[in-house]
Amino acid sequence: MKTNVALIGFMGTGKTSVGELLASKLKKRFVSTDDLIVKLAKKSIPDLFKQYGEPRFRDLEIQIVKKVSDEKNIVIDCGGGIILNKINVVRLRKNAKIILLTASPDVVLKRISKDGEKRPLLDAPNKIERIRKLSSCREHLYKESIDFEIDTSNLNVDQVVDKVSEFLKKDSEQDG
Ligand code: S3P
Repeated sequence: MKTNVALIGFMGTGKTSVGELLASKLKKRFVSTDDLIVKLAKKSIPDLFKQYGEPRFRDLEIQIVKKVSDEKNIVIDCGGGIILNKINVVRLRKNAKIILLTASPDVVLKRISKDGEKRPLLDAPNKIERIRKLSSCREHLYKESIDFEIDTSNLNVDQVVDKVSEFLKKDSEQDG
């Protein structure tokens, strides 16, 4: 039986806030791939990108996903680019139900603006254009092999958590 839940989706779709609350409700451990990368590299994500570039970040991300996908009973908040390497999704699927969170570009912009400069890929003069372009390039990757999808644009964290919990309940009933 799959005891993990992996939250995937573009930056600003609510993976971290939803993941933290979901984990506490389900009494599972919360794990963030970005936090584990920062711990492993002993550098912030903007510093990692600046000093070593995106490829190094993606290598670390693959290492971390390999490790967490073997664990049990966790909620995994996946960095937005996790789907760029197919091996990550293959590994996560072993023990996790994969839930995709989406949000409109306007909502993403509003949410990420609150977080300051922690996302190097959105460090662009025209952020909304960057969000639109990057998310449309990735759309097909996000939609591949997911178990459930939630548009979080007009929902608060509690409402999203309720939807995920409902899905998991129904899904486990179906599995028997
Ligand atoms: C990234 C998303 C970020 C972080 C890094 C790259 C991406 O995580 O992993 O800045 O490629 O979409 P969040 O989705 O948690 O912001």
